[in-house]
Amino acid sequence: MFLKILYVFTVFLCVAHAKSVIVGHVYKQGSIHKVYEKTVETSGIPLIKKTEEVYFEYPLDDQMIKGVAVMDLDNGLAESSINSGGLGFNFVNITLKSERGLGLRFRIEVYA
Ligand SMILES: *[C@@H]1O[C@H](CO)[C@@H](O)[C@H](O)[C@H]1NC(C)=O
Repeated sequence: MFLKILYVFTVFLCVAHAKSVIVGHVYKQGSIHKVYEKTVETSGIPLIKKTEEVYFEYPLDDQMIKGVAVMDLDNGLAESSINSGGLGFNFVNITLKSERGLGLRFRIEVYA
């Protein structure tokens, strides 16, 4: 159990500020299935960096998130991070940041 927690924590640290963020178990298997999916799309505004927040909360707080995938569908210039919650929580709060003047397009999937 401890090793598992350590592993999850390490994975989280490694990918927390990558362009796409994928943590935990992000495919359907056994009792794990997709509980949320969303495609976030915004157009660019000259000179502006856009920030979008995506919040998902599992209605029952005894249900834990087992995997989160935040995938950049565009040019790879935007950034994403999980700013709170995620693996082991019943909620996740995701921040998406566009490059200055550009839009962004992300696909978000949560597994539990
Ligand atoms: C998500 O995180 C951002 C930045 O920390 C915060 O401003 C926002 O209120 C959070 N959203 C929710 C629903 O907790």
